[in-house]
Amino acid sequence: MQTTRLAAMAVLAAGLGFGADAAAQETVKVGLILPMTGPFASTGRQIDAAVRLYLAQHGNMAGGKRIEVVLKDDTGVAPETTRRLAQELVIQDKVAILAGFGLTPLARASAPVATQAKVPMIVMAAGTSIITTDSPYILRTSFTLPQSASAMATWALNNGIKSAVSIVTDYGPGVDAENSFKGVFTKGGGAMAGEMRTPLQNPDFAPFLQRAKDAKPDAVFVFMPSGQGAPFMKQFAERGLAGAGIKLIGTGDVTDDDILNGMGEPALGVITAHFYSAAHPSPENKAYVEAFEKANAGMRPNFMSVGGWDGMHLIFETLKKTGGKTDGDAFLAAAKGMTWTSPRGPIKIEPDTRDITQNIYIRRVESVGGKLYNVEFANIGMVKDPGKN
Ligand code: PHB
Repeated sequence: MQTTRLAAMAVLAAGLGFGADAAAQETVKVGLILPMTGPFASTGRQIDAAVRLYLAQHGNMAGGKRIEVVLKDDTGVAPETTRRLAQELVIQDKVAILAGFGLTPLARASAPVATQAKVPMIVMAAGTSIITTDSPYILRTSFTLPQSASAMATWALNNGIKSAVSIVTDYGPGVDAENSFKGVFTKGGGAMAGEMRTPLQNPDFAPFLQRAKDAKPDAVFVFMPSGQGAPFMKQFAERGLAGAGIKLIGTGDVTDDDILNGMGEPALGVITAHFYSAAHPSPENKAYVEAFEKANAGMRPNFMSVGGWDGMHLIFETLKKTGGKTDGDAFLAAAKGMTWTSPRGPIKIEPDTRDITQNIYIRRVESVGGKLYNVEFANIGMVKDPGKN
């Protein structure tokens, strides 16, 4: 009798769409791919911490669904590994949303997986302009290099810098930063006294810095990916460029909050343009930094972390709008045009490009209470990705 009734209930449940599958359907899995080990592990650590903090503060329900994050470490250096993980997450783990993507080549390699499976792909870190054009299912909550590099060039022109040497890492975001800085700077009457590209893996900056010093520019403009700024800064000081009157300017990646305090003296006074500083003076950011440091043994959040935080916010708010529906087209339609106040300031997901528009701030490294911070002293305002104009 008991078994018969159970069997009958199972048949009924299956008929109504409440079978074994149904429990699974009540959960929305998010496949989070990050470099948790290897040379870019700080990016993975920061984004993972922000995602966990978001879930801790907001609970794990959105649009009536339970959100489950499945974290995979791609080690940050092999695009084919990231792409394989994205495929496995979609096919085997049945994730409804892909997220993370620490570096440009890893995001670009994974884009076809999002397109084929019609799965939303939230780029939380990588910053080359072109990425969002790789798939109609990509949304970006990080930044683009042209946003900060163009603002830096304008500031340089307005502040007596007439010649510059650029030193950038030789891959997508570095090339974007170089082109964008050079374009705005030379159009405004500035002169490039040299353009150099350093290798992504194990760079030795000494020969580049020596050539830059010999060119005697007013400033060196630098882009280094998050996590690589410290050795550059150390060698800039050791080679005596500051002593020779050469200013150091750049995108804020080089004075990354994750490692800034450890850079010491050489970082003081460095001017950068960027979208996030842990010292950003807003109530939202004060609350974010305090909660983040408390949950992570004092670790200071950097700009990568807010890409992760806002990526989770985008997922939660979009699922609320779709009533928990995750199919790529419904999700994208609901996400496009969304605006909110991030710890970094106001942000918008542009409906036409699916890319982020945000404030860019000009900052100077200063000692605040004995610790180094990027202190914002000018706000350029909301900047759409200039790389797409
Ligand atoms: C990227 O690979 O797109 C990237 C990585 C680190 C950065 C900026 C861009 O700081």
